[in-house]
Amino acid sequence: MIVAVDGPAAAGKGTLARRLAAALGLPYLDTGLLYRAVGRRVLDAGHDPRDARCALAAARALRPEDLARGDLRGPVADMAATNVAAIAAVRAELLEFQRRFGREHGAVLDGRDIGTVVFPEATAKLFVTASAEERARRRQAELQGRGMPADFVQVLSEIRDRDAQDENRPVAPLRPADDALLLDTTLLDADAAFAAAMALIATRRPSHAV
Ligand code: C5P
Repeated sequence: MIVAVDGPAAAGKGTLARRLAAALGLPYLDTGLLYRAVGRRVLDAGHDPRDARCALAAARALRPEDLARGDLRGPVADMAATNVAAIAAVRAELLEFQRRFGREHGAVLDGRDIGTVVFPEATAKLFVTASAEERARRRQAELQGRGMPADFVQVLSEIRDRDAQDENRPVAPLRPADDALLLDTTLLDADAAFAAAMALIATRRPSHAV
């Protein structure tokens, strides 16, 4: 069973996908971490994350321990991830890892293109959204919780920039798959979003497995 959880930045995909994986007994992969780790490697090397040659080299050099780094979150890492993610060769390099991960035991994967590109045949596809203002509020609280300074207007503007770049890139743009189930979490807390997602997934599973 593959559950695809796609949607824009800070829509609550990670929290939701992790809970779904635990409830469904499936491994979980945060695919955004792959792009974050590639972006961080490019920054470490002193290069621009928009440089396709450097970003591809970083993607090829990616190691499992890169995903456990403590500096993959925050505005600089966010934008570096978004920039390397717009490069077709980087996406192609990371595709097989994601597919292998899912094929081994099934999985819940969250990202931008899981339902459209990585697993178009997924059992259930959720497209999780929330208003940009609500997403900025959540991201601001998350940053502040980690002791990082966060100005609401700036966080909102960064979220809008990343959305625009993810939606408008030519390769694997952020958009719901035709058969995705839409979940707007603007007015939902984490428990309500989880309950709504489980109900949506139940409509896509064989009845004996529910
Ligand atoms: O999900 P997260 O915000 O951690 O992702 C960081 C960036 O990685 C996104 O802004 C997006 O550009 C990119 N990404 C992607 N495809 C995915 C997951 C993330 O393009 N499947």
